[in-house]
Amino acid sequence: MNRHLFLSLFALLLSATGCSDPTPPASAAPSPITRYPYLQMALHDSLTILWRSANANPAEVRFRKQGTEAWVTAAANTRPTSGGQTECEAVLYHLSPAQYYEYQLWQNNAPLLPDTFTFRAPIAPTDTSFHFFAVGDIGEPLETEGTPNLLGKALKQSAHRYDLGILMGDIVYPDGQSKDYDANFFRHFEGYLSTTPVYPVLGNHDWHEPEQHFMREWKLPHNEHYYSFQHGNVHFIGLDSGKGGDMYDYENQIQWLKDDLSHRPAGTDWTIVFLHHNGKSCTYKSDEAGVISLYPIFEAHGVDLVLNGHAHTYERLNPMNGAGEVLQPYLQDSTSTYHDLPGFISITAGSGGKLRGVGSDPKAYHPNPDSCAHPNLVAAAHHTWAYLGLEVDGKRLTGRAYQTETLEVLDEFTLVKTGGERAIDLVQ
Ligand SMILES: [Fe+2]
Repeated sequence: MNRHLFLSLFALLLSATGCSDPTPPASAAPSPITRYPYLQMALHDSLTILWRSANANPAEVRFRKQGTEAWVTAAANTRPTSGGQTECEAVLYHLSPAQYYEYQLWQNNAPLLPDTFTFRAPIAPTDTSFHFFAVGDIGEPLETEGTPNLLGKALKQSAHRYDLGILMGDIVYPDGQSKDYDANFFRHFEGYLSTTPVYPVLGNHDWHEPEQHFMREWKLPHNEHYYSFQHGNVHFIGLDSGKGGDMYDYENQIQWLKDDLSHRPAGTDWTIVFLHHNGKSCTYKSDEAGVISLYPIFEAHGVDLVLNGHAHTYERLNPMNGAGEVLQPYLQDSTSTYHDLPGFISITAGSGGKLRGVGSDPKAYHPNPDSCAHPNLVAAAHHTWAYLGLEVDGKRLTGRAYQTETLEVLDEFTLVKTGGERAIDLVQ
């Protein structure tokens, strides 16, 4: 059923029954919601809910811990968007760690949607068990044979309830404009992003006046170009590799990166960097010197994983050191289980909604790691739609690449730390 027709019928039903609230809704007008709620900034004991509306009337979120009776109200701030809608933003505070909450959107003393959404509050800093997903290059229009709908469906059907997702750039094609966000991205994740917060970084296709587009679609930490956040025992760092892979505002960003790595919270077991462009690669994309220049920093500070998009395929590299050299002892590890790795693993997962050789990216691609300019670099390569699911269990981190249509596991690897209390060395 057409979504707007459904919402209109829902409003009519409410007006007829008054079933959700003692006060009947003011009118039987169609729901003004033009973008379903999506979660941002799930940090410490708070979380931000954003949505878009056709009107600017006062609205609110009503939420409660699952299993409890009383609703708490969080009023929304509003601002006009460039597309003539209203962005609504409500911040929920004082959440209990790792607890499941439910919420509804309300306006004029009536629910705005038939849905009651759920989310899991951020876990405590001492909690070390959760799942997250990672993928890039998503919002290619359906008209040009992009598949954001497949990714949206896969995430909704996943056996795992992901606590959060990271999006490695090229969120919306062709050039990251606000006017394309709903059709090319949000609509395909409707309902899912209402339950799972995501953290995007800028890709080259998003690099179109980001202050006027990307930053008006998302609410992110720090300066939104580059930022970090903590979730349990994992420190996440999102970087802006710029329009050309040369790293936005290079000097300042790199200094910030070093400072951030030097001040990770105690209890950090894992450090994961995500950005759009690849460093070394055996895909059809060139190596990016700007990203490779960060490798010594990654090694010196004990970064574990570097996740990127850009190439529309899936490729996991063998562990490397700061010089970008493959760590030879691990080449023969056919189990893909790595204990106390001294280097880092770099993975391309730019297979979220655009695939090399399909639609608007028609150039044929036949990955052949043996012909790569970097011998022994590739541990696994799969040319299909895929996303990464990652499972954190204390000092064990397992990654699985899922085929987006079938959810078949294409690739699996595990990192294990057996060291002392604190796995990372803080290097000034
Ligand atoms: Fe890209």
